[in-house]
Amino acid sequence: MTDSHDSNPAIENYLLEERKFEPSTDFKANALVSTANIYEDAETDYLEFWASKARELDWVKPFDKVLEWNPPFAKWFLNGTLNASYNCLDRHVAAGLKDRVAYYFEGEPGDSKSITYGELLTEVEKFATVLKSLGVKRGDIVAIYMPMILELPIAMLACARIGAAHSVVFGGFSSNALSDRINDAESKVVITADGGNRRGVVIPLKDNVDEALKSSPVVESVVVVKRIGDKHQITMEKNRDYWYHELMDKVTDATGPVEVDSENLLYLLYTSGTTAKPKGIMHTTGGYLTQVAYTHKIVFDLHPNEDIYWCAADIGWVTGHSYIVYGPLANGATSIIYEGTPDFPDKDRWWSIIEKYKVSILYAAPTAIRTFMKWGTDYLKRHDLSSLRLLGSVGEPINPEAWMWYRENVGLEKCPIVDTWWQTETGAIMITPLPGVTTTKPGSATFPFPGIRAEIVDEQGQKVELGGGYLTLNRPWPSMLRGIYKDPERYQQTYWSKYNEKYFVGDGAKIDEDGYLWLLGRIDDVMNVSGHRVSTTEVESALVDHPSVAEAAVVGANDATTGQAIMAFVTLKSGELGTPEKGEELRNHVSTKIGAIAKPKMIIFTDDLPKTRSGKIMRRLLRDVAEGRNLGDTTTLTDPSVVEEIKRKAAANVTED
Ligand code: WTA
Repeated sequence: MTDSHDSNPAIENYLLEERKFEPSTDFKANALVSTANIYEDAETDYLEFWASKARELDWVKPFDKVLEWNPPFAKWFLNGTLNASYNCLDRHVAAGLKDRVAYYFEGEPGDSKSITYGELLTEVEKFATVLKSLGVKRGDIVAIYMPMILELPIAMLACARIGAAHSVVFGGFSSNALSDRINDAESKVVITADGGNRRGVVIPLKDNVDEALKSSPVVESVVVVKRIGDKHQITMEKNRDYWYHELMDKVTDATGPVEVDSENLLYLLYTSGTTAKPKGIMHTTGGYLTQVAYTHKIVFDLHPNEDIYWCAADIGWVTGHSYIVYGPLANGATSIIYEGTPDFPDKDRWWSIIEKYKVSILYAAPTAIRTFMKWGTDYLKRHDLSSLRLLGSVGEPINPEAWMWYRENVGLEKCPIVDTWWQTETGAIMITPLPGVTTTKPGSATFPFPGIRAEIVDEQGQKVELGGGYLTLNRPWPSMLRGIYKDPERYQQTYWSKYNEKYFVGDGAKIDEDGYLWLLGRIDDVMNVSGHRVSTTEVESALVDHPSVAEAAVVGANDATTGQAIMAFVTLKSGELGTPEKGEELRNHVSTKIGAIAKPKMIIFTDDLPKTRSGKIMRRLLRDVAEGRNLGDTTTLTDPSVVEEIKRKAAANVTED
């Protein structure tokens, strides 16, 4: 284990947690799964277990082999063919569910609409025709940079319908980040909107696309959804930019689903790693759909004809891909899509949405829960939340205090909480309680999902039966990443080189005497800010890219609301002054290079950075400084006095929001 977790008193406290919550008799009575036999069934023959779940999908040609495992490369459901959009739409319509609402859309300004499975299918059939008319073919990768509006899942499903892959870029990313992703995937088509609404302000998505395309000559066409209209003027370049509604109006024929191989690329999703270059995580069709659909059903105890399900994530992240789009639609669920922030127009927006739509399942991030705690319970009390029957958490460790608050104030003491651990790379939920089975402990993600094998190991790879270590996944799973786009070596190196044939997660974890797993956060140079992965190296390169900066070191410091906060220690070039204005300029520079999520909370100017004799920056010390801890041994430093200076500066010379 690295120091950052063992020495963190807040996290150590989790492990003293002794409260336990059993599923209530009421909940159990109606639960899809209410006995632990499912774990044994899955262990008896885990390949057959997953095969039986895969058979719940509609295949054109059935698979004839469950798994081919040439470590670290896996293929699932071999020789089977299917189509993801067919499984999400056509088959439900064929089963008579045409009029079931697929999504209730709630725009931030207060506009709302709903779309049924029948209507969604029609839109997807039409937009697939549009994509074909723009020259998109099987195997192409379409870039999508959109707000949380219905056209986003429509665009994703239309890609899947014609055998193309999508690469969704979160709307909060800057034009630079967008351009990098377009270029890596060689996307010829970009789908965007004139803008999105966020806290009453327009996010200028199309303007960002224009800027990105200056460095992305591969792009031939841009499709623009009109979300904002007159309030924000954009420029449309002739023979390159097309309005979505105009293209859709011209469509006369509906495109049917093409048959693709189970291992056909469904999408790329870029995520931060330990180097500056984001990794294009590859997910394929059959295995991914199998695991997202099955986990969505069982973990959330989904009763598709009764539940109103709301995953309050952004589709630009994996949580949205798996649990707003593919999982819920594959299961015929009725979901909410909300465009904006929780505090617009007021801090009760979420609770008003829950009351309005009678949401029964809520899936949210701990950072949101902690923010609500800070705002106080009056906002909740204004609304009737009695429709809720299950709560989920994802994205970062949930501290017991936030877990209890969620249970008491949102779940009104009756809703089970599923704390679900997984990653972009795992594609679907991997460690989680089953709400009708598992006795939960606040702050623990409890046990691996049936069929999944997770182990904690020490530095040498030996299994840890009690206590802390590194989390590993010890056999393949259907929705596992198939690699990093165009970089098989990095795939091997990042995930499979530390322990042969064990997937290295990058998270620290502990196991207690009852076998419960406690996730402790990243052990590498990836920060988790409000549930978003941000690489320290990426922020450092953005800082060093600024002409005034000589050197930068970035650490994630514990933060009561956002989980971690980005702290940057910056050495300026000689002659430059570390003024508050300079700090602001640097913070904005990072925001331009990467996006607002990567903006450092605090910049500390220092004449030097603490380094070991071999020249490595001592991040542990910087984190200690940032978190106000006493510093341990500094004797390995070239110049221990540097730390004293930094400590002093950290206390005095700060730039903050
Ligand atoms: C963290 C989000 C503790 C973890 C689905 C992981 C969690 C990273 C949990 C993946 C959880 C996610 N408890 N930590 N329930 N869920 N994490 O790729 O560090 O955006 O490695 O996927 O988030 O983040 P990603």
